[in-house]
Amino acid sequence: MGRVTFTAPITLPGLTLDLQWYRRSVFYEVMVRSFYDSNGDGSGDLAGLISRLDYLQWLGVDALWLPPFFASPLRDGGYDVADYTQILPEFGTLDEFRELVTKAHERNMRIVIDLPLNHTSDQHPWFQASRSDPDGPYGDFYVWSDTDEKWPDIRIIFPDYEDSNWAFDSVRRQFYFHRFFSHQPDLNFTNPRVHEAVIDVVRFWLDLGVDGFRLDAIPYLYESDEGNGEGEPETHEFIKKLRAIVDRDYPGRIMIAEANQWPREVAAFFGTDEEPECHMAFDFPVMPRIFYSLRSQSADELVAVLSETTDVPSWAAWGVFLRNHDELTLEMVSEEYRQAMYGWYAYDPRMRVNVGIRRRLATLLDNSRAELELAHALLFALPGSPFLYYGDEIGMGDNIWLPDRDSSRTPMQWTPDRNAGFSSADPGKLYLPVVQSLVYHYSQVNVESQLAQSRSLLHWIRNVIHVRKAHPVFGLGSIEVLDTDNPAVLAFVRSYAGAGTPVGDQPEDVLCVFSFAHNPVAVTIDAPGFAGAELFDLFGGHRFPSIDDDGRLHLTLGTQGFFWLKAVRR
Ligand code: NOJ
Repeated sequence: MGRVTFTAPITLPGLTLDLQWYRRSVFYEVMVRSFYDSNGDGSGDLAGLISRLDYLQWLGVDALWLPPFFASPLRDGGYDVADYTQILPEFGTLDEFRELVTKAHERNMRIVIDLPLNHTSDQHPWFQASRSDPDGPYGDFYVWSDTDEKWPDIRIIFPDYEDSNWAFDSVRRQFYFHRFFSHQPDLNFTNPRVHEAVIDVVRFWLDLGVDGFRLDAIPYLYESDEGNGEGEPETHEFIKKLRAIVDRDYPGRIMIAEANQWPREVAAFFGTDEEPECHMAFDFPVMPRIFYSLRSQSADELVAVLSETTDVPSWAAWGVFLRNHDELTLEMVSEEYRQAMYGWYAYDPRMRVNVGIRRRLATLLDNSRAELELAHALLFALPGSPFLYYGDEIGMGDNIWLPDRDSSRTPMQWTPDRNAGFSSADPGKLYLPVVQSLVYHYSQVNVESQLAQSRSLLHWIRNVIHVRKAHPVFGLGSIEVLDTDNPAVLAFVRSYAGAGTPVGDQPEDVLCVFSFAHNPVAVTIDAPGFAGAELFDLFGGHRFPSIDDDGRLHLTLGTQGFFWLKAVRR
């Protein structure tokens, strides 16, 4: 399957069909359960989400990512699926889901859903059939073994909860393999009938109109005796097969890889022009290094990871993020850095889970407005498309007294009223309590009060989103990291030639500068390709000192300050 090409945007009712829409989109992760409860039963639902689409549109969101909302016992936030084509009744109905898609599309907003294909819940009828009837049609749907000693080198992803990737099933009297919780048996992808079954699921949702999938836990589909069970060649073959179906029958829909791996391994999930895999992959390598830089006051780690030249296809886009519904994972940093991060960000053991930190953005950054702005300015300027996590736009707090990752999955805070305006239910009936801590209490941190303050974080973030969207260079441009004489300062140029895409045919260069220092600094930046260029602040339009004739720029930055400067070459 060759690379997808296009010449001009096609407009369908309600939706601009640009096959590479995902490269210019601002994504927003919203858990159906957490956003808005329309019927007062204590749990958010699809109708509630539909009623809040105006807010998301106002914010500037182009695409929603919905974690699983399928039938599920909810022992892993819905990532334990009991039926891939049914919606959990407390969330709503398929008709309401259709309505969500229609109403989102009317606003030119896309809907990307989560698909955990690696495993199901042990309540799934496939697993129930597999354990009770080994010779039946589902007997070989899961990974069964007479011993629990196979593949000892495969890592345990939830070490706080599991000490083996095998669990004994008392009905079948065999062990089954599970990469995550023991109630989540892994599907057996060596069985072609499993391929057929999951492809049916993929088609079901694409036929319903979704714009794409986040492919949950995608590196783990296959295990092998030789490898570590992460990104095995057969896994990549399966993703190629899926992509070919999407490109052939559903052009314009996307696949996003959730691959928490080292940089080169993550990049492998894009595939190549000749053999494409995912359109997007979350930028797990960059994310923890943003947090590291904020505390170490050094840009070195980010410079290193951004300067690494990883060859990815031109249509590929990174999904850049600060936080999501999981712990801030520290699996892909060295032990030394991990310990430093725990010291800075998880000084109370309660803040940790597995190999990571279970806190929200605002609490991690100790509610520092300067740090919140710096982190978002980076998020929106880095190559790729930004993913926001619901509530972070108002600086919502977390609740580390709740178990596991529920700490940062509490109800969205809309107003200072009962249940933060999330639900009219008796407070005791909420799926999780609203945050009532000293600093982040919903009476202060909520959408209504931030709408009423023109300098609130919410207004600030909305403004940055709109500035970003006015400049296609951020989504489509290349990056060149520049040398500076101050290790606390990160500087790069984003450049976009302005050709070959349906938007913004003007070439553009934007110089982005970020200071991680906890005090004001002066810096000299080497920008040899920009000698004599004039600079203008992208927010206010004000003119800055030009780059010297020898390609040097001298700047001062306030504590944790940043600039986005449009460079006009001489
Ligand atoms: C990744 C999801 O993001 C996480 O929430 C879940 O627990 C695991 N996959 C297992 O499904």
